[in-house]
Amino acid sequence: MGHASAALQFIVQPGGHLQGRVRVPGDKSISHRSIMLGSLADGTTHVSGFLQGEDCLCTLKAFRSMGVDIEGPSASGEVTIHGVGLHGLQAPSTDLDMGNSGTSMRLMSGLMSGQAFDVRMTGDASLSKRPMKRVTVPLASMGAVIEATSAGTPPLLVRGGKALQGIDYAMPMASAQVKSSLLLAGLYAAGETSVTEPAPTRDHTERMLRGFGYEVVTEGNRIRLQGGGRLTATTIDVPSDISSAAFFMVGASIAEGSDLIIEHVGINPTRTGVIDILRLMGANLEVLNEREVGGEPVADIRVRSSALQGIQIPEHLVPLAIDEFPALFIAAAFAQGQTVLTGAEELRVKESDRIQVMADGLIACGVDAQPTPDGIVINPGNFSGGTIESHGDHRIAMSFAMAALRATQPITINDCANVNTSFPGFVELAATAGMNIRTVG
Ligand code: S3P
Repeated sequence: MGHASAALQFIVQPGGHLQGRVRVPGDKSISHRSIMLGSLADGTTHVSGFLQGEDCLCTLKAFRSMGVDIEGPSASGEVTIHGVGLHGLQAPSTDLDMGNSGTSMRLMSGLMSGQAFDVRMTGDASLSKRPMKRVTVPLASMGAVIEATSAGTPPLLVRGGKALQGIDYAMPMASAQVKSSLLLAGLYAAGETSVTEPAPTRDHTERMLRGFGYEVVTEGNRIRLQGGGRLTATTIDVPSDISSAAFFMVGASIAEGSDLIIEHVGINPTRTGVIDILRLMGANLEVLNEREVGGEPVADIRVRSSALQGIQIPEHLVPLAIDEFPALFIAAAFAQGQTVLTGAEELRVKESDRIQVMADGLIACGVDAQPTPDGIVINPGNFSGGTIESHGDHRIAMSFAMAALRATQPITINDCANVNTSFPGFVELAATAGMNIRTVG
């Protein structure tokens, strides 16, 4: 994959505001799942709005290397997938490179457990440190055989030809990736597979399986399906990613004089924690033109600047905003009064340790930020500017870029190439909306 040059920097000048209309790229979670289910369906699936970020391209290439004929993506994000059916994949001739993508690695662990052949899955330096036991342990209890490092990290060798048996699994953490991995293995398992989640997590897998004609039952916090069915090709229109929109929501909220419309954003209720949290902080967000597109709710979001207040973030919103905390910490850094986050230890095992890396960056900019084991305490103060280490984490890089709108000094962000994993064109779009941002290296 396009392994990032650590040298790519963003240099963002202080000040400015966001205005006009923007459309951010397609949803990452939905794009991954469209390739997986489209490949395993009977018939031809048409996808539009596909996210052409490196993470989703890893998933796409993996299925191509297992014999699936996939056309595109075209410049406008059209992908045509000639599905091979649940039992039509072929052994790849090389390892599957999942790049920076935890979603690819974890969901594919489940899917690959049900195949007739062995597969080895590798990842970049960040992915190679991320915990995989959360999927390999329950998959093993279904009968899967997966070898990892002694630390339970990638590379993973998934053995094929194993007979899987459905399980009834109480998930210890609120993870859509774990839930999805088990449900996808469940397609190949005898009997019923059910997953109970400790708190609601994104339900794109369940929705999309139903869109492909597969019965999935959701009863409260328990989701179950029967193995042995089939997927029927369909059409998928991928909405814009609310996780990418979040940077612009925060930027327009903190930068005085902003009035921005972010178009066609997916507002699945399992993803809208960022809107709820920003509103609790006093943000001026309007959700306009709500509609449904291919089984997912979509809206335009108008954001005008407002004076934010620090809050205690309600823990029930944490899984519903799990990818948006780097951006929300920037909002907190420009609010009036303290913000406290608890119950978010999962942030420590994302593309970087997002609690520590955000705290370090905020401190480098002059803000009082205290990391805790499961969250952070932010006491807003003078946000000057400075040099940020993103540690190759796309969301850290984009969050600090937005901070420049209210900083008093320029912000230089190191190691930004991985912004392309989820948000190709970020710099150009941010500049169009009013930021003074450029890349170097
Ligand atoms: C994702 C689930 C989340 C999220 C990730 C994408 C998915 O991870 O952080 O960016 O597509 O299922 P967890 O479910 O592990 O929290």
